[in-house]
Order: sequence, then C-alpha cells, then structure tokens
Amino acid sequence: MAARSVGLLTRLPLCSQRPAQVPRPAFRLLSCPGTVAADVRSEEHLVAKPGSEDKAPKKRFSEVQKERREQAQRTVLIHCPSKISEKKFLKYLSQHGPINNHFFYESFGLYAVVEFCQKDSINSLKNETHTPCLDTEAVIPFKSRFFNLKLKHQSNRISEPLCTQSSSQSPPSSKKLFELLNYAESMDDQLNTLLKAFQLTEENIKLRYLTCSLIEDIAAAYFPSCVVWPFGSSVNSFGKLGCDLDMFLDLDEIEKCDVHKNVGNFLMEFQVKNVPSGRIATQKILSVIGECLDHFGPGCVGVQKILNARCPLVRFSHQASGFQCDLTTNNRIALKSSELLYIYGSLDSRVRALVFSLRFWARAHSLTSSIPGAWITNFSLTVMVIFFLQRRSPPILPTLDSLKSLADAEDRCVIEGSNCTFIQDLNKIKPSGNTETLELLLKEFFEYFGNFSFNKNSINIRQGKEQNKPDSSPLHIQNPFEPSLNISKNVSQSQLQKLVDLARESAWILQQEDRHQPSPSSKRPWGLTTLLIPTAGSKFLPKKKRKKPVSERVKSLLESIKDNSPESSTNTDGKTAMS
Ligand code: CTP
Ligand code: MG
Repeated sequence: MAARSVGLLTRLPLCSQRPAQVPRPAFRLLSCPGTVAADVRSEEHLVAKPGSEDKAPKKRFSEVQKERREQAQRTVLIHCPSKISEKKFLKYLSQHGPINNHFFYESFGLYAVVEFCQKDSINSLKNETHTPCLDTEAVIPFKSRFFNLKLKHQSNRISEPLCTQSSSQSPPSSKKLFELLNYAESMDDQLNTLLKAFQLTEENIKLRYLTCSLIEDIAAAYFPSCVVWPFGSSVNSFGKLGCDLDMFLDLDEIEKCDVHKNVGNFLMEFQVKNVPSGRIATQKILSVIGECLDHFGPGCVGVQKILNARCPLVRFSHQASGFQCDLTTNNRIALKSSELLYIYGSLDSRVRALVFSLRFWARAHSLTSSIPGAWITNFSLTVMVIFFLQRRSPPILPTLDSLKSLADAEDRCVIEGSNCTFIQDLNKIKPSGNTETLELLLKEFFEYFGNFSFNKNSINIRQGKEQNKPDSSPLHIQNPFEPSLNISKNVSQSQLQKLVDLARESAWILQQEDRHQPSPSSKRPWGLTTLLIPTAGSKFLPKKKRKKPVSERVKSLLESIKDNSPESSTNTDGKTAMS
C-alpha cells in the first residue's frame, strides 16, 4: 500500500493534492436528533484533556472490528432524490423492519446510510427492489446492498431543507483551521483542536465498514465465507478524513472455521487447484476479484490491478463513498500492525494528538505525499512518534516486547513464521506516569529527530531503543513483526535530510518565546500554526506579508544567535538540541 495521506473525501487545506480519480464530494452530514449520528456529534464537544484518560473499559481491536462488521452487514446504502421527505423515506423503509439508525450525506448527490435492526430486513428490501430497464443500454443485474431510490409521487418531494440539524463532515478550510488554531488557549489546545477537526467521524467510520461489507458481498460470489477487513489508518486510530481505505480480503477465516468441524476418524478436505506459490495464488485471486469489481461492482470505478507489487493489490475508487480503496489478500501481518497502532493510539490521549499534528506538519512541508516515492510515509512517521514516546522518561508508551510479555495464551499469534503476539486487552496495560505536555513533546520530538544518528542507528519499537543499522538505507525503521524488513526502505538520503532540516527548524521556532505565546486577538500565527506554514509559499499568510521564506529567516536568526550565547535545550539523551 502506497502512502496516500489525502483521499477523496478531504479537502486538505494546507497543501496541494493529487487530482482525485473521483471528484471530491462535499461530504455534508445530515441527520436527525435522536439518531446515533446526532448523538455522536454532540459528544464530539467532549474533548478529552491531554493525559486525562477515559476510565471506561476500552474495547479490543478485534471486538471493534467484529461489532462494526456486523453493523455494516445490517446496513444499506441508498442514493436518494435530492429533495426527499425524511419522514416518508423512513416510513417506507420501516415496512422491511425496524431501523436502528440512519444518516444522510451529500457526495455529488444525496445518499442515505440506513442500519436495520435485523439482517432479514435487507432480504425483504431486496425482494421488493427491481433491476432497472434502460432504453439505450443493457445492465448487469447484480443485486447488491447499494440501491437507487426514485420518487413515484411528487408528494414525497419536499421544498424545505432535509432536516433541521445538519453539520459539515468536511475538514475545515485552511482559513477556518487557522482561526481555530489561533483562538486556542495553548499549544496543547491547538494540537487537540487539530485532532478533533480532522479525525474520522463516527459516520465516516461506518461508511468505511459498509464499503468493505459491500466489497465482501462481491468477493463472496467466489469465496462464500470470506471477510473483507479494513486496516491501516481507517481503523488504527490515526485516520484523517479523506485517508484511503485499505482492505484485506481474508480467505483464511474459511480454514479456521473448518478445522474444528472435522471429528471422528476421517479428515475431509476440499478438492483444490494447486499453483506454484502463495504469491501466484494471491495474484490469481486478486485478478479475478479485480475483474469482478470492474465489471459488476456498483460504484466501483478506475479499477487497477497492481499485481506485481511486493504486496499485490487491486486499487479502485468507490464512487458513492468517495473512498480510494486498496484491496489486498496476503497481508495479515498488516492487519496485526494496525491493531498494534490502535493499541498505542488508545493508551494515552496525547499519542493521537501528536501524530495528527506531525502528519499535518509533514504534509504541509511536502515531506509526505499522496504519490508513492522516495519520501517518508505516514505509517513510518507514526512509528517514529511511537518510538520517541517510548524513549521519554518515564516512557509514555510501552515497547512491543513489554506488550508481548503481558500476553496470555489467547493472545498468541504467529503469522507465516512471524511472532505477532502481544496483549490484546488494552485494559491490562498500566497507564504511563508521564505528565509531559503536548507542547513539550512536540518540541522534544523535533529536537530528538533533528539530532538522531540516522547514519548509524535504526528505529526499533519492539525494544524501544536505537540499534545498529543492518544496512545502508538512509532511514531504517524496523518492521515491528518482520524484523528483517525496513518499513522506510523507500526514503532517499535527500528526503531524510529534508526531514532533519525541517525538524531542526521547527525545534528552533518553538524555542522562540514569542512564537508559541497565544495571540488570539492578533492575526499573527503562533505555536502550531507557525510550524504548519510551508517553507515555500504559505497558504495561511498572504505572500506580500511574508518578508522572507522561513528557512531564510531562520538562517539569519541563527547567525545572530551565534554571536550571542545560545540557550539551546537538550534532548532526552542529553545531546545538544541544535547543532
Ligand atoms: N504497512 C506495513 N508496512 C509498510 C507499509 C504499510 O506494514 N511498509 C501496513 C501498515 O499497517 C499500514 C497499512 O499497511 O497502516 C496501510 O498502509 P498505508 O495506506 O500506506 O498507510 P496508513 O497507515 O493507512 O496511512 P495513510 O493514512 O497514509 O493511508
Ligand atoms: Mg492507508
């Protein structure tokens, strides 16, 4: 999976985007008071303060995945006429069974996501649904859970807005974000504000699971017990509105179920076709599923089969949801690393706030890109943040080895010879005693990696310590579950240097007292906003107001500092922060 920090739903305010294959929809959420959608939005105002952890028991990753998948299986996606009476719409659907919740969103047309209380309701709805007859074209009569609703009577049309409560699901514009960040009370507040504005909403998560479920229905034509699991940033707690949807077609579920069914003296096996290697099997499966999506998948467009990649995949756009999807099938370890990141993101509220801001910072400075290349990926950057938080004193995050030492027998997991065992129950992990602020952590992150010996050392979250680099790649970040692999092998020396330079520059900016003092009354950027100004051409400030590019200003300020006695801070290893 290539790193694509910007998907199809998001207008990324701070940096340029790759042209989307599907036009980016204005993703406006429309819902009714009393529905889950409305409840979730009202809860969004209750932002956890940094370090103040939610005491409610946290769900395991596998529990979340199973619950959401089950919900998605009871859910349908309906393209609706632009003006429709919500009351009549719900009454019409309710004849098939009670509705658990629903929401509307706009994505170049009006769509409804409707979750029934029972799965049977969907069969009832399908039985009443017709395959359209077109005059000029033929149709593929594929009966999915993606419907098109038409009005029989004009009385179902309404002239007033669809519902009284509506809120935008799009991330804020750059102007709005600037205002939000500028009016924050502190830098910690800024980081949490950014997280709140860009994290995946409840509805967006539901739509991601529903999209997987719709793809699963198509794959099930060949593999009836298959499961399509979302993984990556859609589920690892670091997803930003607009991120891609990574999908894992799980065919092993079939094997797991069947093993226990064989009782007695015989062992029954399926007659199967043999192929020379697992990779060829993967390529064949994805090739056929890719064809299916292309020819029969309602709303699946731009299907590309990328079968010669290290991890073969089918890439396509799901038009109705606007998601760019990557479907893989031999990628179970990536699902496990998504679970690991989910655990890290859930252990301490500072983790996600820091990761989001750093992902933003990296994107604003073109350190990351939606196009695969020699630059660092969001995944690698996230692992760097986790490593940094493991290195704090006291550590904010435990090492992977210590998560493994807490594991029970039920947590044991070996995938293709790689030991992926770690504790799955988050509630058994002791919270950190570290109380450092986000402001300090952000500054220290820049200082730590501004001075890291990348030429000598590798980043290893399994042990939470630097290790000698096993090869000459400029940036070496050990894959947590496949130690022989470097997850940042693609990063070139010049891209690494850019990262280091920008980290030093940002550390320096944060050392300037006036740069991180809140200034809500003035329009002057401060704190996090200052760091998000791209070096070449700010989107926040009109160009005429900027005297010099940041790098030049920093250079001249550094020169002036050289003449005075510098008060450079130290990083966690006691090294001088600014060299
Ligand atoms: N992955 C991996 N090794 C890599 C690249 C990716 O194990 N070298 C796994 C990670 O679990 C990652 C997932 O594949 O989370 C999806 O990869 P990608 O889409 O590149 O990253 P995301 O974490 O989803 O981030 P983004 O928001 O940029 O899509
Ligand atoms: Mg992804």
